[in-house]
Amino acid sequence: MLNKLKNTVLDSQIKRSIFRVGIPNTDRKRVLIVLGNVFLHLHPTKVRTSGVKLRYTWCAGGLSFFLFLVLTLTGVLLMFYYRPTVEGAYVDMLDMRSQVPFGIMRELHRWSAHAMVIMVMVHMFRVFMTGSYKPPREFNWTIGVLLLVLTFLLSFTGYLLPWDQLAIWAITVGSNIMSAVPAMGQKVRFLMLGGNTVNANALLRFYVLHCMILPLGLIVLIAIHFWRIRKDGGLYPGPEPKPVLIPSGTENEAIQQ
Ligand code: HEM
Repeated sequence: MLNKLKNTVLDSQIKRSIFRVGIPNTDRKRVLIVLGNVFLHLHPTKVRTSGVKLRYTWCAGGLSFFLFLVLTLTGVLLMFYYRPTVEGAYVDMLDMRSQVPFGIMRELHRWSAHAMVIMVMVHMFRVFMTGSYKPPREFNWTIGVLLLVLTFLLSFTGYLLPWDQLAIWAITVGSNIMSAVPAMGQKVRFLMLGGNTVNANALLRFYVLHCMILPLGLIVLIAIHFWRIRKDGGLYPGPEPKPVLIPSGTENEAIQQ
């Protein structure tokens, strides 16, 4: 009876229509599973051992991406409770801290934001130290620089949203620095704040940038970044082994290590 039920479930057309390959007990089946799955097919079917070594990548790129996902999830939840208005912003922020155990959602968002800024810089440092920016990966390095700028801008725009004294004066200083841009400094500052002072217009502008425009830009660039890693043949495997010169008779011969 039980066996019959088990066979009916395991051999059912529904099951076969979803799990087409069966138990992945051979290399071929593993490859087919990766290719046939909407999420897994984004990964290459094979990777170099060096590419998954923690010692090599520090997983810093992966952790930056993970933190971005945490920030997106917690950020969307915060949007249900936060109003980007002069009357609402500060009290909503205080409520989010005190009405929820440990102010968990806001703290997760805040600490993940700090961690992401640090992690993206760590990732950039590791890419630099392993020489992974060299051709053909120079385009992906440039995409990375844009990702760094967008990460900083997300951090900067988020800073104003609590609408406390620290936020208002930090953005006042930040926007004053922008006005030092030669020739069009004042215009850039006006465009950034939606006026000449940090007021309700600036709060709304920073909110839209922080919750819509910058995250969308980041998503598009991350997609290009990951796609480029695939097209560049996976992670940089390290430099080619250098030829070693050994004396042989009167001539030197180059042999590969
Ligand atoms: C939101 C920020 C970023 C995310 C989520 C991200 C994610 C990743 C991931 C997951 C990888 C593959 C695994 C690894 O190397 O850890 C990678 C590789 C790479 N990243 Fe980033 N990255 C970001 C920012 C940057 C920055 C700021 C740079 C440099 C300016 C950069 C340049 C590169 C390059 C050149 C590679 C290829 C490395 C290789 O071939 O070994 N990325 N990135």
